[in-house]
Amino acid sequence: MRRTIRFLLGEETREIESSDPTATLLDWLRADARLTGTKEGCAEGDCGACTVAIGRLSGGRLRYEAINSCIRLLATIDGCHVVTIEHLKRSDGSLHPVQQAMAAHHGSQCGFCTPGIVMSLYALWLNEERPDETRIEDALAGNLCRCTGYQPIIAAARGISDFGRRREDPLIANADAIAARLKTLRDEETLLVEQEERRLIAPATVNALADAVVKEPRATMLAGGTDVGLWVTKEMRDIAPVIYLGRVEALKRVEDRGDALIFGAGANHIDVRKALATIHPQLDELMRRFGGEQIRNAGTIGGNIANGSPIGDLPPALIALGATIMLRRGAGRRVIPLEQFFIAYRKQDRRAGEFIETITVPKPPPDALIHVSKVSKRFDEDISSVCGAFLLRRGPDGLVAEARLAFGGMAATPKRAANAETILKGKPWSEESVALAIGCLAVDFKPLDDMRASARYRATVAGNLLRRFLMETTDAAIATRVAGLMRADAPRAAHG
Ligand SMILES: Cc1cc2nc3c(=O)[nH]c(=O)nc-3n(C[C@H](O)[C@H](O)[C@H](O)COP(=O)(O)OP(=O)(O)OC[C@H]3O[C@@H](n4cnc5c(N)ncnc54)[C@H](O)[C@@H]3O)c2cc1C
Ligand code: FES
Ligand code: FES
Repeated sequence: MRRTIRFLLGEETREIESSDPTATLLDWLRADARLTGTKEGCAEGDCGACTVAIGRLSGGRLRYEAINSCIRLLATIDGCHVVTIEHLKRSDGSLHPVQQAMAAHHGSQCGFCTPGIVMSLYALWLNEERPDETRIEDALAGNLCRCTGYQPIIAAARGISDFGRRREDPLIANADAIAARLKTLRDEETLLVEQEERRLIAPATVNALADAVVKEPRATMLAGGTDVGLWVTKEMRDIAPVIYLGRVEALKRVEDRGDALIFGAGANHIDVRKALATIHPQLDELMRRFGGEQIRNAGTIGGNIANGSPIGDLPPALIALGATIMLRRGAGRRVIPLEQFFIAYRKQDRRAGEFIETITVPKPPPDALIHVSKVSKRFDEDISSVCGAFLLRRGPDGLVAEARLAFGGMAATPKRAANAETILKGKPWSEESVALAIGCLAVDFKPLDDMRASARYRATVAGNLLRRFLMETTDAAIATRVAGLMRADAPRAAHG
């Protein structure tokens, strides 16, 4: 058992002996490390003012990601490289190319959001020398700027390499040395962060994790913290004791088994997106619109499922594809269809001592028709009002042989439209059949009625999504997704 949190902060190695187990990285950076360039705006992962870059070893490779330090617990950066806006300063005092580009293109006005924007662009530049417009917008989707407008910032993003060479950036030039230092911080010991009676346990192996969850069945499980972090910063809940899953490399795996994709529950949304995109482009679009880049870097597939939100984006898509989840308790495992995991509002079939270990997503046969729509008020960084994901197969006679119609936002849990599915079976895939299926939705669902959308709106949209599915799969000439105003290269649907 190790009791010291170890990480790299810029060029220094830091070791923290004792800490509040639920202290956020942002609070530690500002109050303890006195690195106040990183700002607090919303404290809920929305505005991006708190963005820092985190380097971590992934499959032996050093990988930098932008994350929201406001909802990230300090203890979870054990073994990582933390890079803040202060670390961009050159030894001769000159500005970093990202900062030079922002200044040259007038990308900053009030300046409060600027450090976060610079860090998001820096993380992007570290990964891609000349990102295209779509990637730039993706990288900025989690950064709010209310005064400058985004065009100067996007222009700055395009122009970073005019001010310096990427290969000369210290993080790129010294990547091997940084990776070697991170390797020395890694071990298989369980990390215990304890203060008085409150503790966070971070096992490094899946077996140690399984033991820890059995021993502490009432502990809060923490993965990316993009839901749990807000319990701390917004609801002021004491979530201790905490079991952190993020040190377990095996949980982050994404494997293509040929007939199915296997995800470790700790795979982040960036990796999940890449794999799901191989199944269907609308799954790629769905994941592109999942939170902002910082949320996609931190948030995990397991967290999105286990959270049990009726408006989580992945469950409808995974249910439509016929996904199963493996739950583990100690050495015991059970596999259930994902839809059975959701019992009632925020009540999941997770027994004491269990955690989600893997998610298996069967690859649909080539003749399957697939549709995924996320309907939300904003294109980026918004939670769904309704999410619809459908899979349909026709038999040799051309009639519907199988229909899996899954919705989010239509009930207290992500749920299939059982009656609508039944009525479609054995019928032609036609306007008449879809009209019958739409008629069944009123029986299948009592939609949520809240500030995101009224029940009536949701019911209407759900039916329209089935119509859109029919149109998209029967008449390729109909444009069902509105072309973007700024993204010339990608279909953009303001409402899904
Ligand atoms: C700004 C912002 C934007 C967001 N946008 C979206 C969006 O567009 N779409 C969307 O669906 N969600 C969105 N979310 C919600 C959140 O990002 C997702 O639900 C995310 O996938 C949660 O994953 P996590 O790893 O961060 O989970 P955590 O916050 O770590 O955990 C979430 C829950 O899952 C449990 N848990 C985690 N892993 C396991 C496991 N392996 N086994 C058992 N229990 C586990 C935790 O105990 C907790 O109850 C957003 C959140 C924020 C803050
Ligand atoms: S302070 Fe707004 S995202 Fe962190
Ligand atoms: S420069 Fe002020 S909100 Fe962005």
